Amino acid sequence: MSYFREVINFMEEYIPGEQPEEEGYIKLNTNENPYPPSPLVEEKIKEALSEGRISLYPPPLGGKLREKAQEVYGLPRDWIAVGNGSDELLNLLFRLFLGKGDRVAYPFPTYTLYRTLAFLQEAEREEIPFPPDFSLPDSFLGCSAKLKVVSNPNSPTGTFLSLSQIEKLLSLSSCPVIVDEAYVDFAPYSVFSLLQDFPNLIIVRTLSKSFSLAGLRVGLLFASPDIVRGILKIKDSYNVGILPQVGGAAALEDIEYMKKNVEKIKSTREWFSEEMRQLGFLVYPSQANFIMVKKERRDLKFLYEELKRRKILIRYFPEWPDSLRITIGKEKEMKILLAAIQEIIEGVNV
Ligand SMILES: Cc1ncc(COP(=O)(O)O)c(C=O)c1O
Repeated sequence: MSYFREVINFMEEYIPGEQPEEEGYIKLNTNENPYPPSPLVEEKIKEALSEGRISLYPPPLGGKLREKAQEVYGLPRDWIAVGNGSDELLNLLFRLFLGKGDRVAYPFPTYTLYRTLAFLQEAEREEIPFPPDFSLPDSFLGCSAKLKVVSNPNSPTGTFLSLSQIEKLLSLSSCPVIVDEAYVDFAPYSVFSLLQDFPNLIIVRTLSKSFSLAGLRVGLLFASPDIVRGILKIKDSYNVGILPQVGGAAALEDIEYMKKNVEKIKSTREWFSEEMRQLGFLVYPSQANFIMVKKERRDLKFLYEELKRRKILIRYFPEWPDSLRITIGKEKEMKILLAAIQEIIEGVNV
């Protein structure tokens, strides 16, 4: 007997990447940034602590964080909402648009949280397979749904959709379209320029990846004022704590610092992708801070497990056993990983 709603008993739960308690791992499994955030983040957080700001509730709409986002991204404030990580914003959007039996469509494979959120709403899921070139499937462009979602760059593949493909999607869709740009700072461009022309476009961003703030939990949403009003109506009053607000605003203020880290990661990504190709893996072209490597029709669990034994964590998804997702760390870490992979697969028929 369970007191839960029936859907909760049958729901597949979202399994986040491991966060080991023990020290000493090279952690390349959850797409965090290997470089620390701007020193301004620590400075501003210390200042907020010394001013006693944690005794008071935080500004409900994001205070300085929302102001900074307005300044950096050049949008009026009523086009912006802030969240406790972008996961919270995605959750709020699914709750805003989907009721029982409503249809949500997204190309697949993608971020599996969309599936969990759909389950929670008892929504119908239309998971449309990407074609081999990872462009948008025609049946996704044209389908009717209450909500469409694309992750761009996509996780777990790292593949990237062009502006014209997203523009086509927005023109052909009469429903809201979420473009999840969690990794966009590692890519050539955002779909930001389409916001004014397409009132159905919702962009969700995070400070967890490029800005190195995964532990603070800061997400940003950009959409027309009507949609932002909907989010403000249903969110918790104080959904983002004062330290994430202050730290997030400081990170946005020092955007040049973030850009330098991103450039280092991009160059490590290109070098490491080539090395993995040399080792005979298929490597999807990535515009994110991770890559997906594949060996057709092989189960790569042994490689994941052996690396874990050596205290190197990468991501293995049982749903795609022939593939592994590897976060791009510091060059030194990637060299250790590469040597370990070489050693493990030597003499093994993979
Ligand atoms: C595609 C995608 N969207 C959103 C998120 C969530 O990020 P946040 O830390 O802001 O909740 C992730 C995290 O891995 C992600 O991969």
